[in-house]
Amino acid sequence: MDSIVVTGNGPLQGQIPIAGAKNACLTLMPATLLSEEPLTLTNAPRLSDIRTMAQLLQSLGAEVSQLQDGQVLALSSRALDNHVADYDIVRKMRASILVLGPMLARDGHAIVSLPGGCAIGARPVDLHLRALEAMGAELDLRDGYVHARAPGGLKGGTVDFPFVSVGATENALMAATLAKGTTVIRNAAREPEVVDLADCLVRMGARIDGIGTHTLTVEGVDRLRGATHPVVPDRIELGTYMLAPAICGGEVECLGGRFDLVGAFCEKLDAAGVDVTETDSGLKVARRHDRVRAVDVTTAPYPGFPTDLQAQMMALMCTAEGVSVLEEQIFENRFMHAPELMRMGARIDVQGGTATVTGVERLKGAPVMATDLRASVSLILAGLAAEGETQVNRVYHLDRGYERVEEKLRGVGARIERIKGR
Ligand code: EPZ
Repeated sequence: MDSIVVTGNGPLQGQIPIAGAKNACLTLMPATLLSEEPLTLTNAPRLSDIRTMAQLLQSLGAEVSQLQDGQVLALSSRALDNHVADYDIVRKMRASILVLGPMLARDGHAIVSLPGGCAIGARPVDLHLRALEAMGAELDLRDGYVHARAPGGLKGGTVDFPFVSVGATENALMAATLAKGTTVIRNAAREPEVVDLADCLVRMGARIDGIGTHTLTVEGVDRLRGATHPVVPDRIELGTYMLAPAICGGEVECLGGRFDLVGAFCEKLDAAGVDVTETDSGLKVARRHDRVRAVDVTTAPYPGFPTDLQAQMMALMCTAEGVSVLEEQIFENRFMHAPELMRMGARIDVQGGTATVTGVERLKGAPVMATDLRASVSLILAGLAAEGETQVNRVYHLDRGYERVEEKLRGVGARIERIKGR
């Protein structure tokens, strides 16, 4: 397995291009299942999760071609010759559950493996299933699979989520586009990736009101057409790279970055003493003093502080002046990076969903283990600011969500290398 070696090397300077959002692309790709006409996604990120979704769609009978070095995905689902999403693919990536709503809406039947838990928590899919039931789906859980049927097609209904779920909103939204009649989705997620999916569905001919709000009203149509859609920039990749100069000093411009994607995060950076300015091509970031100040962070659904930036923010807080309290409200087990950061000299006390970080002046390089995608990159950020060498092991997680991470960081002066494993 590959590992990444980072050596603390002082301030960073230059530009980092931001790719299309992984989590948007992973929900846009299954939207192909809703139409017999081609769907083309531009600004696609080149990641292993995208390849896994392509594999899953192909197993169902869709055609997926990666053009322009993978930045354009040409998808086509003229006919689906298989309606079973197999455990072997679903277990690799939870986003696989997003094929359920579209397949059911289009052909009235689908069998999808239950994804199971993952490193950051139990992550059930009950809300996805309840939403489809509200549209008339008949579901049966057998042998680890959801067997779903909608004889006569899905029907418009009211979906009232007890709390915000990004994936369940996406599944419900896609299914509702082809359901007969009107579907109202209450307490819908408002994440930019959900908005991006809704925008793409509208391009395909869907009738959706309330995009970007907590209530989505969908008027079902008989069929959707093909479309070309650019994937929204990845706000989590953006936030991650914005933290690099905040941790190491220097000035970095994130090309393609937009304030509206990272508002709550920028407020925290400002409070910590990091300047973010808008330029013609993105966002420029530089810290105001040698050391940032401690700030408290509580994760929340968009427009709150994203859970997917919590680990990276903790890396910044490890060397801040003062004590910061980080509360994780979305996932129950998302502090696995804390013990690894402590191996580098960080002072962190985790009690349930709260981590208290007492900033130290300098971290020290150490061998560490990546446990999930965002944890991996937080260790790389910490390594950039540490004294000596940090070896981040098990980086396959990283390749799921960050394209060419070494190249992008080397481009702004970081010392970072990949060691190929066996
Ligand atoms: C999406 O996951 C993202 N993944 C996650 O990105 C992100 O952390 C998360 O949203 C929150 O922003 C993709 O978009 C592919 P949720 P999702 O449903 O949709 C509970 C990353 O690092 N829940 O909004 O699975 C759930 O357990 C990641 O890129 C239920 O209880 O998240 C969690 O506690 C990882 N029942 C909360 O809701 C359900 O049916 C929010 O999860 C669904 C969710």
